[in-house]
Amino acid sequence: MSNLSRRNALSLGVALGLVGVAGAAPALASTAGSLAPAAGKATAADPWWAWDDEIDTLMAGLLNAGQVPGVNTAMRTWVDNNDPLPTGLPGNLTTWLRKVNTLPSWADPTKLRLAADFNRRKDTYLFMLYGLGSGIMSTVIPREAKSVYWSAGGADMQDRAAKTFTFGYDLSDRNAFDPDGQFVVTANKTRLVHAAVRHLLPQSPQWTAVADEQIPISNGDILVTFHSLGTYVHKKLRDWKVPMTAAEEEAFLHMWQVAIYLLGVREEFIPKTWAEAYAQSEQALTPVLTPTQEGRDLAEDLLGLTAQIDLGVTRGFLNEFVRYALSHEIGDWLGLRRDYAAAALVRTGWPAYIAFREGLIPVMPVGFYMFDQFIRAIAMLFLNKGSSSTTTPITIPTGNRP
Ligand code: HEM
Repeated sequence: MSNLSRRNALSLGVALGLVGVAGAAPALASTAGSLAPAAGKATAADPWWAWDDEIDTLMAGLLNAGQVPGVNTAMRTWVDNNDPLPTGLPGNLTTWLRKVNTLPSWADPTKLRLAADFNRRKDTYLFMLYGLGSGIMSTVIPREAKSVYWSAGGADMQDRAAKTFTFGYDLSDRNAFDPDGQFVVTANKTRLVHAAVRHLLPQSPQWTAVADEQIPISNGDILVTFHSLGTYVHKKLRDWKVPMTAAEEEAFLHMWQVAIYLLGVREEFIPKTWAEAYAQSEQALTPVLTPTQEGRDLAEDLLGLTAQIDLGVTRGFLNEFVRYALSHEIGDWLGLRRDYAAAALVRTGWPAYIAFREGLIPVMPVGFYMFDQFIRAIAMLFLNKGSSSTTTPITIPTGNRP
C-alpha cells in the first residue's frame, strides 16, 4: 500500500472525485484548494475519508448491544428484492433499510436488462475472469487482503469465496434488479457486513499491527475493488476480443455503477464512463498491487481449493491460467509454479476457444473440451455452496479471525 498512503490521498481524491454518475460531477479539480484540511472540507470530497457514517454508527451500536445474531436470524428469509423487510429487526435498522433498499432514481431498467442479457451470454468468460482473475487479484490488493485475512471470514476461504460468488451470481442474474431478483438484498446485506467490519477490525490486534489505515473499507477502497472486478473484466473482454456492442459495454458499466452505489459509494465518486473508470483504475488500483503475507496465504487457500475437486486440469495449468489472466509479475509474487507446457496450451488454446465459441472460426480447436470442463468445474467449485441454498448466505460477522 506504499503508493496509496494518505500522503497522496488528496490528489487521488481529486482524480476519483472528478467523476459522477448523476451528471452532478463536481469539478473537484478546480476546487482542489477546498480539499485542504484547513478548509475543513477534506472529508466531504475525499473518497479515502468517506465511509458509510449512518449505518456504521448504527451497526457499532448493534454489535455492542449483542443484537447482531438476532439480526442475522431475522434476515435469513429476506432474499428477493420485493420481499418485505424482515420483522424482528431493531427499529433503527428497519428505518435505515427502508431508505436504502431501493434502486437509485438514475438506474436505467433498459440498460440493466441489456447487462443481464450480456452477462448470460458471456457467463463462461465472466466466471473465469471474476473467479480466477479478480478473485486472485484481490489477494495482491494489500488493504483488501489484510482485512479479509484478519476478519472472521478469512479463516474459511471456501465459505467466503462462495459468499462472495453469491454477490457476483446475484449481480449477473437475469432478473438481478427486478422485483423477483435478489441483488438489491444481497448488496444491502454486504453493506451491513462492511459496516460491521469497520467496527470490528480496528479491535483486531493483528489487523492494526499490519494495516495502514484506522478504519477499513472507505469509498476509495470500494472503488479500488470495483476496478479489480468490473473494470478489469471489461478490459480483459476487450483484450480477448470477445465481441461486445457499445450499448452492451455501457450497460455493463451501468450495472456496476448501480452496484457500487448500493454498496454505499457516493454518486460523485462513481465513474461516468469507461474512460473515467480506466483512468481511476490506473491511478488507484495498478500502483497499489503488491504481495503481502496475508495475500499469499489467501491465494494459496483459494487455489488450493481445487485439491477438493477434479478440475480436469493440473495445478500447473491452473497456475498458468491465473498468470495469463493477470500477469507473470503477480504470478511470481504469489509463487505460482511455472508449467511451460500448460502455459503454451493456455496461450494458444484459450483465444481459439473464445473464437470458436463466438462463431469466429469454424473448426473446433484442440483442447476445446478441456477448457469447457475446466470452466464448469471452476463454476461448480465456487457455486456449490451458494447455489444449493435458496437464501443469500451472507451473514454479519460478530468477531474477527482469532
Ligand atoms: C465481506 C463484496 C469491497 C473487505 C463481503 C461480502 C461480499 C463482499 C459479498 C460478504 C461475504 C461474506 O460474508 O464473507 C464486496 C464487493 C466490494 C467489496 C462487491 C467492492 C466492489 C471490499 C473492500 C474491502 C472488503 C474494499 C476491504 C478493503 C471485506 C471484508 C468482509 C467483506 C473484511 C467480511 C468477511 C467476513 O465475513 O469476515 N464483501 N466487497 N470488501 N468484505 Fe467486501
